[in-house]
Amino acid sequence: NTSSNDFVIDDEVIKNIFKIRQDFAHKGTYGKSIIVGGSYGKIGAIMLATKSALKAGSGLTFVLAPNCGYEILQTNAPEAMFMNGGEKNINQIEEQENTVYGIGPGLGTEKETEKALVKFLENHQSPLILDADALNIISKDNNYMKLIPKKSIITPHPKEFERLFGKTENSFDRLDLAKTKAKDLGIYIVLKDHHTQVITPSGNVFYNITGNSGLAKGGSGDILTGIITSLLAQKYSEEEAAVLGVWLHGKAADFAAEKYSKEAMQPTDVINELGNVFLDLN
Ligand code: APR
Ligand code: MG
Repeated sequence: NTSSNDFVIDDEVIKNIFKIRQDFAHKGTYGKSIIVGGSYGKIGAIMLATKSALKAGSGLTFVLAPNCGYEILQTNAPEAMFMNGGEKNINQIEEQENTVYGIGPGLGTEKETEKALVKFLENHQSPLILDADALNIISKDNNYMKLIPKKSIITPHPKEFERLFGKTENSFDRLDLAKTKAKDLGIYIVLKDHHTQVITPSGNVFYNITGNSGLAKGGSGDILTGIITSLLAQKYSEEEAAVLGVWLHGKAADFAAEKYSKEAMQPTDVINELGNVFLDLN
């Protein structure tokens, strides 16, 4: 890996990526996101991801979830349009053009959901975001990995990374393996940790330095999925969406920790702090 470079995601890097919203923009300017996931008892995960996509600026946001989440989602995230993917679990994922898909939070790994995801990936070409149970489904069968579209962004935590690519001795070996896999598959790997690493298909690594242990709570990862999907829909490049996404997520968490403490802060507080992070950037 001698030809690859390491970068720290500092304020300068972010200043160069972040684009001020255009005065003459309309909702089409800022793209369409579809957040896909949720299952009976895990509608919260997909709601957090949906709210995050909205808060990060996506022009139009859809949520594709099972019908058991319909009222919860329409009530708590009324700005997002609901698409029915099944009853208790998702059994179909509709394909729409010019749309960025973020798939996985609370999705579950039921057989019918597995079939729906595989069928969708077999017919889908453009880059998308895969997280959580979407990655757990892909881990089930060696043939699934090659269905991930080139330039997609996957966001595994260490355990999900291990399920996908196997065990490593330590975090150095894990990073090396991630570089190899990102190159082989032509994808971006967001390796979530205390200092999250974004690994590009060319083997470059961006280290995130925002964020804190107040994020060590169920639901934090779902927010990141929503943010990155939203940024990609807004025409940031895959690299920019991943790098800006992890930074925004961590920065919002740092603001939430200052206000509420690392103990008491909730993923919902992190979503709400995104506004203050954007105010600072503008
Ligand atoms: N310091 C900084 N950041 C942290 C820390 C920490 N100590 N702990 C966690 N984080 C950040 C990670 O970098 C990541 O962005 O919080 C996020 C946690 O993401 P996940 O591990 O995906 O956590 P979670 O939201 O609970 O995942 C929910 O995903 O793993 C599946 O099945 C699991 O249903 C669960 C779902
Ligand atoms: Mg997760």
